[in-house]
Amino acid sequence: MDATAATTPFSTLIRMASHEQHTEAETSTFMSDLLGGRLGVVAYTRYTEQLWFVYRALEEGAEALLTDPVAGPFIQPELMRTAELERDLAHLRGADWRRGLEPLPATAEYADRVTECARGWSAGYVAHHYTRYLGDLSGGQIIRDRAEKTWGFARKGDGVRFYVFERIANPASFKRGYRELLDAVDADELEKRRIVDECRHAFALNTAVFRELGEAFPRSA
Ligand code: HEM
Repeated sequence: MDATAATTPFSTLIRMASHEQHTEAETSTFMSDLLGGRLGVVAYTRYTEQLWFVYRALEEGAEALLTDPVAGPFIQPELMRTAELERDLAHLRGADWRRGLEPLPATAEYADRVTECARGWSAGYVAHHYTRYLGDLSGGQIIRDRAEKTWGFARKGDGVRFYVFERIANPASFKRGYRELLDAVDADELEKRRIVDECRHAFALNTAVFRELGEAFPRSA
Protein backbone atom coordinates (compact mmCIF):
# COMPACT_ATOMS: atom_id res chain seq x y z
CA MET A 1 0.00 0.00 0.00
CA ASP A 2 1.52 3.34 -0.98
CA ALA A 3 1.83 6.27 1.39
CA THR A 4 -1.10 8.15 -0.18
CA ALA A 5 -3.43 5.21 0.29
CA ALA A 6 -2.32 4.75 3.89
CA THR A 7 -3.07 8.36 4.86
CA THR A 8 -6.04 9.23 2.64
CA PRO A 9 -9.50 8.69 4.18
CA PHE A 10 -11.19 5.64 2.67
CA SER A 11 -14.16 7.72 1.47
CA THR A 12 -11.75 9.85 -0.57
CA LEU A 13 -9.92 6.82 -1.93
CA ILE A 14 -13.06 5.12 -3.14
CA ARG A 15 -14.34 8.32 -4.74
CA MET A 16 -11.02 8.96 -6.48
CA ALA A 17 -10.75 5.35 -7.62
CA SER A 18 -14.13 5.46 -9.33
CA HIS A 19 -13.93 9.01 -10.66
CA GLU A 20 -13.02 8.09 -14.22
CA GLN A 21 -15.71 5.44 -14.44
CA HIS A 22 -18.20 7.89 -13.01
CA THR A 23 -17.56 10.22 -15.91
CA GLU A 24 -17.91 7.29 -18.29
CA ALA A 25 -21.29 6.32 -16.78
CA GLU A 26 -22.50 9.90 -16.69
CA THR A 27 -21.59 10.54 -20.32
CA SER A 28 -22.69 7.15 -21.69
CA THR A 29 -24.74 7.44 -24.87
CA PHE A 30 -27.88 6.15 -23.17
CA MET A 31 -27.64 8.56 -20.21
CA SER A 32 -26.80 11.51 -22.44
CA ASP A 33 -29.71 10.73 -24.75
CA LEU A 34 -32.08 10.13 -21.85
CA LEU A 35 -31.15 13.30 -19.99
CA GLY A 36 -30.91 15.27 -23.21
CA GLY A 37 -34.61 14.59 -23.82
CA ARG A 38 -33.90 12.54 -26.92
CA LEU A 39 -35.64 9.37 -25.75
CA GLY A 40 -39.24 8.58 -24.97
CA VAL A 41 -40.79 7.57 -21.69
CA VAL A 42 -40.54 3.92 -22.79
CA ALA A 43 -36.75 4.15 -22.48
CA TYR A 44 -37.07 5.76 -19.04
CA THR A 45 -39.47 2.97 -18.05
CA ARG A 46 -37.07 0.28 -19.23
CA TYR A 47 -34.29 1.93 -17.24
CA THR A 48 -36.48 2.07 -14.11
CA GLU A 49 -37.26 -1.63 -14.56
CA GLN A 50 -33.53 -2.43 -14.50
CA LEU A 51 -33.15 -0.43 -11.29
CA TRP A 52 -35.88 -2.52 -9.67
CA PHE A 53 -33.92 -5.74 -10.24
CA VAL A 54 -30.76 -4.18 -8.84
CA TYR A 55 -32.42 -2.69 -5.73
CA ARG A 56 -34.35 -5.85 -5.06
CA ALA A 57 -31.00 -7.66 -4.89
CA LEU A 58 -29.49 -4.93 -2.70
CA GLU A 59 -32.42 -4.76 -0.33
CA GLU A 60 -33.39 -8.43 -0.12
CA GLY A 61 -29.89 -9.03 1.17
CA ALA A 62 -29.95 -6.09 3.58
CA GLU A 63 -31.83 -7.46 6.56
CA ALA A 64 -29.50 -10.42 7.06
CA LEU A 65 -26.57 -7.98 7.05
CA LEU A 66 -27.94 -5.68 9.77
CA THR A 67 -25.77 -7.33 12.43
CA ASP A 68 -22.76 -7.80 10.16
CA PRO A 69 -19.76 -5.86 11.55
CA VAL A 70 -18.68 -4.60 8.12
CA ALA A 71 -21.92 -3.98 6.20
CA GLY A 72 -24.29 -3.56 9.17
CA PRO A 73 -23.65 0.15 9.85
CA PHE A 74 -24.51 0.98 6.22
CA ILE A 75 -27.95 -0.63 6.29
CA GLN A 76 -30.33 2.25 6.94
CA PRO A 77 -34.07 2.04 6.36
CA GLU A 78 -34.32 5.59 4.98
CA LEU A 79 -32.26 4.52 1.96
CA MET A 80 -34.48 1.63 0.89
CA ARG A 81 -35.81 2.11 -2.64
CA THR A 82 -37.74 -1.02 -3.61
CA ALA A 83 -41.15 0.29 -2.48
CA GLU A 84 -40.59 3.59 -4.34
CA LEU A 85 -39.52 1.76 -7.49
CA GLU A 86 -42.65 -0.35 -7.30
CA ARG A 87 -44.85 2.74 -7.09
CA ASP A 88 -43.01 4.24 -10.05
CA LEU A 89 -43.41 1.04 -12.05
CA ALA A 90 -47.13 0.86 -11.24
CA HIS A 91 -47.41 4.38 -12.65
CA LEU A 92 -45.27 3.64 -15.69
CA ARG A 93 -46.46 0.10 -16.54
CA GLY A 94 -49.83 -0.15 -14.82
CA ALA A 95 -51.13 -2.13 -11.87
CA ASP A 96 -49.85 -5.46 -13.19
CA TRP A 97 -46.36 -4.00 -13.70
CA ARG A 98 -44.69 -7.23 -12.55
CA ARG A 99 -46.16 -9.30 -15.39
CA GLY A 100 -43.61 -10.05 -18.11
CA LEU A 101 -40.92 -7.98 -16.40
CA GLU A 102 -37.49 -9.37 -17.33
CA PRO A 103 -34.03 -7.96 -16.65
CA LEU A 104 -31.64 -7.27 -19.49
CA PRO A 105 -28.75 -9.78 -19.48
CA ALA A 106 -26.39 -7.11 -18.06
CA THR A 107 -28.90 -6.32 -15.32
CA ALA A 108 -29.25 -9.99 -14.39
CA GLU A 109 -25.48 -10.22 -14.13
CA TYR A 110 -25.35 -7.08 -11.96
CA ALA A 111 -28.12 -8.27 -9.63
CA ASP A 112 -26.50 -11.71 -9.34
CA ARG A 113 -23.21 -10.15 -8.30
CA VAL A 114 -24.94 -8.02 -5.65
CA THR A 115 -26.69 -11.11 -4.28
CA GLU A 116 -23.44 -13.04 -4.28
CA CYS A 117 -21.77 -10.31 -2.23
CA ALA A 118 -24.76 -9.95 0.11
CA ARG A 119 -24.63 -13.67 0.88
CA GLY A 120 -20.93 -14.32 0.98
CA TRP A 121 -18.80 -11.18 1.16
CA SER A 122 -20.23 -8.30 3.18
CA ALA A 123 -17.33 -5.93 2.37
CA GLY A 124 -18.11 -6.42 -1.33
CA TYR A 125 -21.73 -5.58 -0.55
CA VAL A 126 -20.53 -2.26 0.92
CA ALA A 127 -18.95 -1.43 -2.46
CA HIS A 128 -22.29 -1.97 -4.19
CA HIS A 129 -24.16 -0.10 -1.49
CA TYR A 130 -21.88 2.93 -1.87
CA THR A 131 -22.00 2.90 -5.67
CA ARG A 132 -25.77 3.01 -5.80
CA TYR A 133 -27.02 4.93 -2.79
CA LEU A 134 -24.45 7.69 -2.67
CA GLY A 135 -24.96 8.17 -6.40
CA ASP A 136 -28.73 8.34 -6.02
CA LEU A 137 -28.38 10.97 -3.32
CA SER A 138 -26.16 13.03 -5.65
CA GLY A 139 -26.65 12.77 -9.41
CA GLY A 140 -30.02 11.13 -8.89
CA GLN A 141 -31.44 14.55 -8.14
CA ILE A 142 -30.35 15.81 -11.54
CA ILE A 143 -31.98 12.82 -13.22
CA ARG A 144 -35.23 13.46 -11.34
CA ASP A 145 -35.35 17.07 -12.42
CA ARG A 146 -34.80 16.15 -16.07
CA ALA A 147 -37.32 13.31 -15.94
CA GLU A 148 -40.01 15.59 -14.49
CA LYS A 149 -39.42 18.14 -17.22
CA THR A 150 -39.05 15.70 -20.12
CA TRP A 151 -41.92 13.32 -19.45
CA GLY A 152 -44.15 15.53 -17.31
CA PHE A 153 -44.13 13.63 -14.02
CA ALA A 154 -45.46 15.53 -11.02
CA ARG A 155 -42.63 17.07 -9.02
CA LYS A 156 -41.32 14.34 -6.69
CA GLY A 157 -44.42 12.30 -7.60
CA ASP A 158 -45.26 8.98 -9.23
CA GLY A 159 -42.65 8.05 -11.82
CA VAL A 160 -39.76 9.71 -9.98
CA ARG A 161 -40.30 8.53 -6.40
CA PHE A 162 -37.16 6.44 -6.66
CA TYR A 163 -35.17 9.70 -6.56
CA VAL A 164 -37.03 11.12 -3.57
CA PHE A 165 -35.66 10.22 -0.16
CA GLU A 166 -38.59 11.28 2.00
CA ARG A 167 -36.80 10.46 5.23
CA ILE A 168 -33.54 12.22 4.41
CA ALA A 169 -34.14 15.90 5.05
CA ASN A 170 -30.59 16.98 4.38
CA PRO A 171 -28.80 14.86 1.75
CA ALA A 172 -25.52 16.79 2.08
CA SER A 173 -25.29 16.05 5.78
CA PHE A 174 -26.43 12.45 5.23
CA LYS A 175 -23.62 12.03 2.69
CA ARG A 176 -21.13 13.42 5.20
CA GLY A 177 -22.29 10.84 7.74
CA TYR A 178 -22.05 8.12 5.12
CA ARG A 179 -18.46 9.09 4.32
CA GLU A 180 -17.67 8.84 8.03
CA LEU A 181 -19.03 5.29 7.98
CA LEU A 182 -16.78 4.53 5.02
CA ASP A 183 -13.78 5.99 6.81
CA ALA A 184 -14.52 3.81 9.83
CA VAL A 185 -15.27 0.62 7.87
CA ASP A 186 -14.18 -2.51 9.72
CA ALA A 187 -11.65 -3.70 7.13
CA ASP A 188 -7.87 -3.90 6.90
CA GLU A 189 -5.87 -2.27 4.09
CA LEU A 190 -6.00 -5.32 1.84
CA GLU A 191 -9.75 -5.67 2.29
CA LYS A 192 -10.19 -1.96 1.60
CA ARG A 193 -8.33 -2.43 -1.63
CA ARG A 194 -10.68 -5.26 -2.52
CA ILE A 195 -13.67 -3.02 -1.74
CA VAL A 196 -12.30 -0.38 -4.12
CA ASP A 197 -11.89 -3.04 -6.81
CA GLU A 198 -15.46 -4.17 -6.26
CA CYS A 199 -16.62 -0.57 -6.55
CA ARG A 200 -14.94 -0.36 -9.95
CA HIS A 201 -16.66 -3.60 -10.83
CA ALA A 202 -19.99 -2.10 -9.72
CA PHE A 203 -19.47 0.89 -12.01
CA ALA A 204 -18.58 -1.44 -14.89
CA LEU A 205 -21.79 -3.41 -14.26
CA ASN A 206 -23.78 -0.17 -14.42
CA THR A 207 -22.08 0.87 -17.64
CA ALA A 208 -22.88 -2.52 -19.17
CA VAL A 209 -26.56 -1.97 -18.37
CA PHE A 210 -26.40 1.45 -20.05
CA ARG A 211 -24.76 -0.14 -23.07
CA GLU A 212 -27.57 -2.65 -23.47
CA LEU A 213 -30.19 0.03 -22.92
CA GLY A 214 -28.44 2.15 -25.55
CA GLU A 215 -28.65 -0.72 -28.02
CA ALA A 216 -32.34 -1.17 -27.26
CA PHE A 217 -33.06 2.56 -27.59
CA PRO A 218 -30.94 4.20 -30.26
CA ARG A 219 -31.53 7.92 -30.24
CA SER A 220 -34.67 8.95 -32.03
CA ALA A 221 -33.47 12.43 -33.05
C1 HEM B 1 -26.14 11.18 -15.74
C2 HEM B 1 -25.92 10.49 -14.69
C3 HEM B 1 -25.20 10.99 -13.48
C4 HEM B 1 -25.03 12.26 -13.01
C5 HEM B 1 -25.54 13.55 -13.63
C6 HEM B 1 -24.27 12.16 -11.80
C7 HEM B 1 -23.88 13.23 -11.03
C8 HEM B 1 -23.26 13.17 -9.82
C9 HEM B 1 -22.94 14.30 -8.98
C10 HEM B 1 -23.26 15.75 -9.30
C11 HEM B 1 -22.34 13.83 -7.87
C12 HEM B 1 -21.88 14.65 -6.68
C13 HEM B 1 -20.42 14.75 -6.58
C14 HEM B 1 -20.04 15.35 -5.24
O1 HEM B 1 -20.83 15.28 -4.28
O2 HEM B 1 -18.94 15.87 -5.16
C15 HEM B 1 -22.29 12.39 -8.00
C16 HEM B 1 -21.75 11.54 -7.07
C17 HEM B 1 -21.78 10.18 -7.17
N1 HEM B 1 -22.27 9.42 -8.22
FE1 HEM B 1 -23.08 10.13 -9.90
N2 HEM B 1 -24.00 10.85 -11.55
C18 HEM B 1 -24.56 10.11 -12.55
C19 HEM B 1 -24.50 8.76 -12.70
C20 HEM B 1 -23.99 7.91 -11.78
C21 HEM B 1 -23.98 6.46 -11.90
C22 HEM B 1 -24.54 5.67 -13.08
C23 HEM B 1 -23.40 5.98 -10.78
C24 HEM B 1 -23.15 4.56 -10.39
C25 HEM B 1 -24.05 3.64 -10.46
C26 HEM B 1 -23.05 7.12 -9.94
C27 HEM B 1 -22.45 7.04 -8.71
C28 HEM B 1 -22.08 8.11 -7.93
C29 HEM B 1 -21.46 7.98 -6.63
C30 HEM B 1 -21.09 6.69 -5.92
C31 HEM B 1 -21.27 9.29 -6.15
C32 HEM B 1 -20.67 9.69 -4.82
C33 HEM B 1 -19.21 10.06 -4.96
C34 HEM B 1 -18.64 10.37 -3.58
O3 HEM B 1 -18.85 11.47 -3.12
O4 HEM B 1 -18.03 9.48 -3.00
N3 HEM B 1 -23.42 8.27 -10.58
N4 HEM B 1 -22.86 12.02 -9.19
